[in-house]
Amino acid sequence: MTFDFVIIGSGLAGIYAALLAAKKGSVLILTKKKLKNSNTFYAQGGIAAVFSDKDDFKKHIQDTLKAGAYHNNKKAVEFIIRKAPEAIRKLVQLGVNFSKDRQGKIALGREGGHSEARIVHHFDFTGKMIEETLVQKIRKEKNITVYEGTFAKELLVKNGVCYGVQIIRSTKFENIYARRVVMASGGLGQMYAKTTNPDIATGDGVAMAYRAGCKLKDMEFIQFHPTAFHQGKSPLFLISEAVRGEGAILRNSEGERFMPRYHELAELAPRDKVSQAIFQEEHQGPVYLDFTSQAQHERKLQKRFPQIFRYLKQHGYHLAKDLIPITPAAHFSCGGIVTDLHGKTSLKNLYAFGEVACTGLHGANRLASNSLLEAAVMSGQIVCSPLPKKASDPSFKLPAKMFSKPVSTLKIRSSLQKIMWEKVGILRTQKGLTLAEKELLSLQKKLPVPDSIENYETANMVTIGLLIIDSAKKRRKSLGCHLMY
Ligand code: FAD
Ligand code: SIN
Repeated sequence: MTFDFVIIGSGLAGIYAALLAAKKGSVLILTKKKLKNSNTFYAQGGIAAVFSDKDDFKKHIQDTLKAGAYHNNKKAVEFIIRKAPEAIRKLVQLGVNFSKDRQGKIALGREGGHSEARIVHHFDFTGKMIEETLVQKIRKEKNITVYEGTFAKELLVKNGVCYGVQIIRSTKFENIYARRVVMASGGLGQMYAKTTNPDIATGDGVAMAYRAGCKLKDMEFIQFHPTAFHQGKSPLFLISEAVRGEGAILRNSEGERFMPRYHELAELAPRDKVSQAIFQEEHQGPVYLDFTSQAQHERKLQKRFPQIFRYLKQHGYHLAKDLIPITPAAHFSCGGIVTDLHGKTSLKNLYAFGEVACTGLHGANRLASNSLLEAAVMSGQIVCSPLPKKASDPSFKLPAKMFSKPVSTLKIRSSLQKIMWEKVGILRTQKGLTLAEKELLSLQKKLPVPDSIENYETANMVTIGLLIIDSAKKRRKSLGCHLMY
């Protein structure tokens, strides 16, 4: 099978790229489950962009650099932030409906690390609104073919050129060739025992790119979101940073508001600082989100945060009347496949957009709501450089074997998640990292010859774990969300 574009992933990066690419040629979207199954779907807070009269690009740039511990690629920061308002307007043109203020202007929320209110949102379910709107458009595009329930297994690469991707579809292997291959496979939060990321986030894209010899960067910078609801099994439900943006505070098991002791911006400090403080306080006992200052304004809260309000209520908590147990959880991968500002990777014909990519926007710690922004701006670059004349097929072989009786690797996976959480999590030591590496190498030896998608995912996760550990070991000093003792 040959297409002009093959796009791996159907989060914001993949579907937005597909809509633009469809104007230039035939597009195939590959996605593991249903189109809407993505991190994007769960995004709550929104997209950061300069819209207020009080705000300007310089401030957004400065906030991004400061949150990223100045490890960012300044060119990427400038480029993406200056394009943000235009990217929002393009989403609106496609039918995405953002919340409005009383004057009918785009309403702006506040989140950690931002010096101004600049979070464009749709109540507290921004991602769902974006994903559902764009998926509807995808379904109507004649130039777009969608393979749901399809696993991208390997990139087809020879001599530094990417020709396509090998997939597993209905238990059969198939090679897909394309003039441009786009990796938009999202993040890797599932590497950790506690995460906000749904089960699709197993880091397959970075693992495939690594095996294909593609350049990676900053894998040690895993961001932990401070306020995941501390109840039930992982993935943990997120309580958006926008809740703290509206005034909620954090208390430790003694009832103390501890954040002012850690940072001048208290609860609205950059995310790495808040997660690290909670992690310290958790040694004494549980940590809570306290929004009881708003007990009088229940209706207003319910209107602003309908999803969070409802979810907590279903689980026996009242957002404005109870102390809500929270914990940090793995949330976002700041590093990944290195790209330039067109999304080009180090392999010819392979592009990468969204969380899987590392443009350098986020540096050592991502500023809140800069991820959807990066996905929207960068995937818009898909058609900015000319396509090669035609897709070639240097005849990559297909594996002969089909699925027989796969051995489950779920136990290996949960051991891996525990090791990563305990030794490669919020706080790291050289000793812990070395031990984690040893343990992962021993898990790697236990992996069966892959005979199911689950097996391939687990093998990818072990690869990713080793890559994170390797980068973390090399960075001996703390920086951003990499905290070393
Ligand atoms: P995703 O949206 O994760 O999409 C990846 C796609 O790739 C999926 O469709 C997946 O099925 C597919 N895929 C993966 N591997 C394979 C494979 N091997 N074969 C085939 N398909 C594959 N960011 C913000 O900026 N603002 C927010 O408010 C915000 N809130 C968040 C809330 C939560 C709970 C979470 C989890 C994240 C949040 N983020 C937020 C981060 C943001 O949502 C993600 O970084 C962003 O959506 C990533 O988009 P993406 O298109 O790169 O990847
Ligand atoms: C949130 O709503 O707190 C998530 C925002 C983000 O990940 O940027």
